[in-house]
Amino acid sequence: MPSFSVVTFGCQMNVHDSERIEEVLQRAGYGRTEEVKGADVVVLNTCSVREKAEQKLRSEVGRLGVLKRSRPELLIAVAGCVAQQEGERLTKSMPQIDVVIGPDNIPQLPELLASAQHGSPAQVRTVFDHDRPTFLAASPEPGQGNVSTFVTTMKGCDERCTFCVVPYTRGSERYRPSSEILAEIERLVAAGTKEITLLGQTVDSYRDPERALPAAPLAGEGVSRWGRRNANPDDETEFPALLRAIADRVPQLLRLRYTSPHPRHLTPALVEAHKDLKVLPRHVHMPVQSGSDEVLKRMGRRYTRAEYVERVSMLVQSVPGLTLSTDIIVGFPGETEEQFQQTLGLLEQIGFVGVFGFKYSQRPFTPALKLADDVSEADKSDRLTRLLDAAETIRGRHLATLVGTTQAVLVEGRSKTGAFTGRTERNEITHFGCSDDPTGELVPLVVRRALKHSLIGDMADERRRRDYDAVVEPRPAPRSLPVVAG
Ligand code: 5AD
Repeated sequence: MPSFSVVTFGCQMNVHDSERIEEVLQRAGYGRTEEVKGADVVVLNTCSVREKAEQKLRSEVGRLGVLKRSRPELLIAVAGCVAQQEGERLTKSMPQIDVVIGPDNIPQLPELLASAQHGSPAQVRTVFDHDRPTFLAASPEPGQGNVSTFVTTMKGCDERCTFCVVPYTRGSERYRPSSEILAEIERLVAAGTKEITLLGQTVDSYRDPERALPAAPLAGEGVSRWGRRNANPDDETEFPALLRAIADRVPQLLRLRYTSPHPRHLTPALVEAHKDLKVLPRHVHMPVQSGSDEVLKRMGRRYTRAEYVERVSMLVQSVPGLTLSTDIIVGFPGETEEQFQQTLGLLEQIGFVGVFGFKYSQRPFTPALKLADDVSEADKSDRLTRLLDAAETIRGRHLATLVGTTQAVLVEGRSKTGAFTGRTERNEITHFGCSDDPTGELVPLVVRRALKHSLIGDMADERRRRDYDAVVEPRPAPRSLPVVAG
């Protein structure tokens, strides 16, 4: 049986796509191996959201090229956003590549590999499925569902944030029928999944192509005011209705998260859903990108700082204890020190418990290319350091307040250190010892100690308690990386 290995770069959407690539290849008779060196097929699932991510592909292909010299039968396939963006240019500049495949063409991978195998020239397929959008569903065996998993609800992006390449690499917004989403979640939960994260580039702009969802309470309210530049009623999100339908249809589900939303769709109806639905944890990742109105305008974010603050405040006031995390770009064209200071001020004002900070990098096809990339690399690095330092201080303060409290932790499994690891409702990674294996359970833990990025807890149930103390803090799991928001 020929073997394959998938190497994933980038966001959760890519992690999810990689799982689908694995399923497609397994169904076509390939066997999975972790060992890139011994694999017959290596799929590089790429990211182009920032320049650095794209450079990774080039060095990886270079490394595989060396391997290919001694094993010419090795097939190299490039998938994901760089594949979509570059298409044939990739095979021209890197002749070691055999197959280039866009995110919408995953099912065709086996046939392209077969053609490439028979000595034909490099195969390139990067066609968006705008006419008949398809969404590949997970197909877990009973009992084999991961504790926590992703379900795609939409793909593509209709926002036009001037820095972002995603509309070009993932196409325009396409929504998955609600019946398909509900059926997949039901299947996953029956297979043992406890937590679902709904996945989409602007996940909260969801509209059901089947029109099968009953209107959510407060639907439409506030939309005309917030969406005044886009007052078309068809533009109104049905995301709150989708959340309600999932909670209703799959009551065994323990937690329902979503990523990444756009603040434009944080409507009263979504706040109301957070108030009503116990399955929604009290944590939301809501990318803001900047605390300066001038910068937000140049970024094409379609909200002001005051509007962002108003929306998230409504959420926090309605759901006491809800925490927020965010994405921020530093050094966007024209960003002054003073404008950056406004971002730091916003960090304090909101008290984000998690910040994913990025240095601006120019991306092909994006409107911001017209603006001079005029913040020096040194200033970008300096701002990023200050941003992350400020974020760390806020996070440290927050985690310290949890010491001594009891938190419900959904156990994801055992980490390399032998301890068990799970997440609190607010997504804080928690390590603890247990005398038996509590994977998949929601257990109460008393927080003993706060580390830099995570917590150490003790089983509240004395009979199951086993002492555990971290010497080295394990790195946060990659799934905490944000998905690209438009
Ligand atoms: N430069 C830097 N950061 C970017 N992001 C998206 N595009 C760029 C870019 N050109 C960041 C945004 C987004 C996150 C996933 O990546 O903060 O929310």
